[in-house]
Amino acid sequence: MRRIALLTSGGDAPGMNAHIRAVVRASLHHGLEIYGVENGFSGLIDGEFIKMDRKSTANIISRGGTILRTARSKEFLNPGGRAAAAARMKENGIEGLIGCGGDGTFRGLHALWEEHKIQVIGTPGTIDNDLYGTFYTIGYDTAVNTATEAIDRIRDTADSHGRVFLIEVMGRHAGFIAMDVGIASGAEYIAVPETVTNMDMLYQRILKQGKKRRTIIIVGEGDEEGGATEIARKLYELYEVDTKVTILGHIQRGGSPGVRDRVLASHLGVAAVDAILDGKTDIMVGRIHNEITYTPLAETWSKVKPLKSYFHELADILA
Ligand code: F6P
Repeated sequence: MRRIALLTSGGDAPGMNAHIRAVVRASLHHGLEIYGVENGFSGLIDGEFIKMDRKSTANIISRGGTILRTARSKEFLNPGGRAAAAARMKENGIEGLIGCGGDGTFRGLHALWEEHKIQVIGTPGTIDNDLYGTFYTIGYDTAVNTATEAIDRIRDTADSHGRVFLIEVMGRHAGFIAMDVGIASGAEYIAVPETVTNMDMLYQRILKQGKKRRTIIIVGEGDEEGGATEIARKLYELYEVDTKVTILGHIQRGGSPGVRDRVLASHLGVAAVDAILDGKTDIMVGRIHNEITYTPLAETWSKVKPLKSYFHELADILA
């Protein structure tokens, strides 16, 4: 019987457990033996394999995080680490690997294929939504809902006190979270890394609020002005505007996945096992317009997934 493995790597994302469940159950459905690798690529190097069955994935579809746990392995960045991981897989008779994560995970999978010809399939699991080749990544929808809910609460107190709030959301180098959350929370300004933040326009937006003063400014953590704390400092330095800063941080990564993420994670899990059975390798299984897509792993990080320009316009009209 063919034996394959599954790992989660990089930052965790809500829906990873639903994905694990789908990969395990689809594998069993097709008569494959399926092993979970604990602790991402670190666990692959150390041979932390656990045999999965239906029971081991019972009751996890609604849980946040990842039952396989995750890591950002430094060792796997080196050829020596990857050779050790390939050796552990061969010793255990594991012929294929599905890795759920972001671009770091995909770079690791790609190297494993290039150097050791191990069949690899990537599935997009990151709250950042910054991978080319899929409309959405597992975890994104839940993260933007979590952030929006938090900002709705901040709006209440901002309104009562007439305060200017700078709220920083995650997204490393990409503004997808900031843009969606900004539109959904009715922000007066959205600062994203993809465009230059105009400090004067930002100040004008605060002035436009008039006497009530309440202003919600969403800042993507990768913004070139340096994040919410730095923008707050500049606003004071340039215009003597007092602000409050809230950094939402890892709250955006936790919690029970929403319906969209559970369904996406399940669909991609089944499709990833199909891709293994079809002999595909070195690709990411994604979804565009509800259709499964296959993108060479190297393109998922080298091609830029654009932040829709009409979103900027929309945000400006609505501000
Ligand atoms: O890639 C997901 C992400 O949450 C980014 O938005 C963020 O910059 C990063 O991970 C934080 O990583 P860590 O949890 O390792 O600090």
